[in-house]
Amino acid sequence: MSANLGETTSLPGAGQPRAGAVRGGPRLIPVGGGKGGVGKTFLVTNLAASLARMGYRVVAVDGDLEGANLHTCVGIQQPRVSLADYVAHREEDIAKLLLDTPIRNLRIIAATRGNLATPQPGHGRRVQLMRDLRRLDADIVLLDLGAGTHPAVMDYFMVGEEGIVVIAPEPTSVENAYSFIRAAFYRRLRLAMGSHDVRRVITMAMDERNERGIRTPHDLLKEVQALDTAEGHRFVDTMRAFRPRLLINEVRTAEDVKLGFSIRSVCRRYFGIEAEYLGYVNHDDRARRSVRDRRPLVDVDPRCDAAVYIGRMARKLAASTQAPRTDRGGATR
Ligand SMILES: Nc1ncnc2c1ncn2[C@@H]1O[C@H](COP(=O)(O)OP(=O)(O)OP(=O)(O)O)[C@@H](O)[C@H]1O
Ligand SMILES: [Mg+2]
Repeated sequence: MSANLGETTSLPGAGQPRAGAVRGGPRLIPVGGGKGGVGKTFLVTNLAASLARMGYRVVAVDGDLEGANLHTCVGIQQPRVSLADYVAHREEDIAKLLLDTPIRNLRIIAATRGNLATPQPGHGRRVQLMRDLRRLDADIVLLDLGAGTHPAVMDYFMVGEEGIVVIAPEPTSVENAYSFIRAAFYRRLRLAMGSHDVRRVITMAMDERNERGIRTPHDLLKEVQALDTAEGHRFVDTMRAFRPRLLINEVRTAEDVKLGFSIRSVCRRYFGIEAEYLGYVNHDDRARRSVRDRRPLVDVDPRCDAAVYIGRMARKLAASTQAPRTDRGGATR
């Protein structure tokens, strides 16, 4: 699947210590999770609205060209421009895709009117998109990803080390989350490595049934160290820098809450990576209602538990971001 990708074209941010490679540019936070319908768009909408309420200039980007619906969640019915225009080279200036929303400080880039024949941008265009997003005049850019582990989804997820993985407390979602983290991890490793031979071994290890018998990242590390000591060090650095953030959505029981901790320890034991348990959001019928009303829950009902938990996570996310700059807010009411 990845054979058509330019392996040596590294994505901005991949393998670097922190998102926000362009000094002074916005922080990019991708939100994925592998499985469809787990609440990615709902959470992007509400985290974005929470951060905007706190005074950050936020842009929420709908990266799901095949199932675009972020615009609906913020009350925009017919976006006049969208990411599809950028993908089709009808618009080169990403800033012209920005749409104001009814929420102060929150703008979006919608993703509609795609070309059904070629909905996904090629690798080169994706790299360009990530670079352009880093140049937006904003504090935080949240990127809503589609389901699955398509190379386009994984490329977007790798723009920063702190992408959010949304998981529902059900076996299918947990399984997909592991596949998602695994895909992100191996892809990140491959892009970080300079040696062609090492990249070839990583590509081989991506096939779970590879004949070399590489079953875990630790097996892979041994292979890489044997091939090239310097690359072995880079491998370990990449492992340490990758810190996906886990978010459990639609929690109903105390067991569901604990899931975040158990996934975190599996990540540590199996991948050798330190995932962060960002938090959880309880199941709440008001969430569904807010989507139907095309308004973020944190706006409609800021005191309900789900909105309070989302607000808490937004504050956690904001903790490593510079102070709000409301005086330069580009969004309108
Ligand atoms: N905490 C929650 N409680 C109740 N309902 C929720 C919660 N979170 C999300 N939902 C509902 O689940 C549905 C799916 O959510 P959403 O569209 O955000 O999922 P998604 O992961 O973006 O899906 P896709 O992969 O198809 O884009 C929506 O109707 C939403 O209102
Ligand atoms: Mg979605």
